[in-house]
Amino acid sequence: MADLVLGIETSCDETAAAVLEGGHKIRSSIVASQVKVHAPYGGIVPELASRRHLETIGPVIRLAVHEAGIEFGDLTGLAVTVGPGLVGSLLVGVSAAKGLAYSLGKPLVAVNHIEGHLYAGILDHPHLESPYVALVASGGHTHLYHAESPGTYRLLGCTRDDAAGEAFDKVAKILGLPYPGGPHIEQAALSGDPRAVPLPRPILGHGSLDFSFSGLKTAVIHYLDSSPLSPQLVADIAAGFQQAVVDVLTRNAITAAKRVRASRILLTGGVACNQTLRQHLARRANSEGLEVYWPRPELCTDNAAMIAAAGSYRLGRGEVAPLDLNATADLPLC
Ligand code: KG4
Ligand code: ZN
Repeated sequence: MADLVLGIETSCDETAAAVLEGGHKIRSSIVASQVKVHAPYGGIVPELASRRHLETIGPVIRLAVHEAGIEFGDLTGLAVTVGPGLVGSLLVGVSAAKGLAYSLGKPLVAVNHIEGHLYAGILDHPHLESPYVALVASGGHTHLYHAESPGTYRLLGCTRDDAAGEAFDKVAKILGLPYPGGPHIEQAALSGDPRAVPLPRPILGHGSLDFSFSGLKTAVIHYLDSSPLSPQLVADIAAGFQQAVVDVLTRNAITAAKRVRASRILLTGGVACNQTLRQHLARRANSEGLEVYWPRPELCTDNAAMIAAAGSYRLGRGEVAPLDLNATADLPLC
């Protein structure tokens, strides 16, 4: 039988485990969402997140192994997210993975969560070979990388304040929409006019590929100071805000690809579920002769199949983590 790798992911508010066969075939992928725990607060409460991970990690891992139709002893190795993320959440997954690896006598490999998001793209597009430019846009990250060769990345730009998904979540809260805001803004925007409310497209200048989204959120707050919220205004602001974020993400991703002479762009992370972003980026990029790829929605948001995929690659290279492995909240990819 080909390699069977168990992936474990607890970096934020999803408790996830998955079994991957041969580095690409998903035998099982379980994601226990904590949305209901955090929704009343309009954002993630770190202490509540780690407590919930503790309650769900055991059942989620057992279910992933059961649904894969295997026994724990059949596993070739384990892969776990060690950062970046909430340290209390990360430690739950890291501790579970270390205990399991030790008791099973199987190798454990440490995975960077952002590299996991890149491997989500490779899971759905196995022919997507380096070099390519990756735009990772999620609740915690908005990063542009040049994936030069497998496992070698160069940071081209990142957010200087809020992540793109975080901006979606904060603006949704201002508009009275539920958490997480991204899907609700996308839905509300369907009946809005993106030109009705003028919103800025922050440009950082000097050829920078960095992003800044906090000014956009402030512009929404200022606009609402003088205009009472109505259902139509919610829709118009949702549409205008979404288009502003999409414009900025698209512009920087295409500029990055041209600058490093890459012909492919991978769009990944939770915000990559957004249909307007996908269509706009694909249209603009294609007109510049660039190809755009994205994973299916359930691989864009946090999951453990992508961690198992990155881990399979690293285990294949002979990487093994020591059993004193620790979590690192601000772990860089490169
Ligand atoms: O990748 P992910 O599950 O978790 C992190 O690593 O942060 O991303 C979650 C983020 C949330 O901020 C959510 O609002 C955003 O992705 N998101 C979206 C959409 N679906 C999820 N943003 C815009 N449009 C969407 N359809
Ligand atoms: Zn993520």
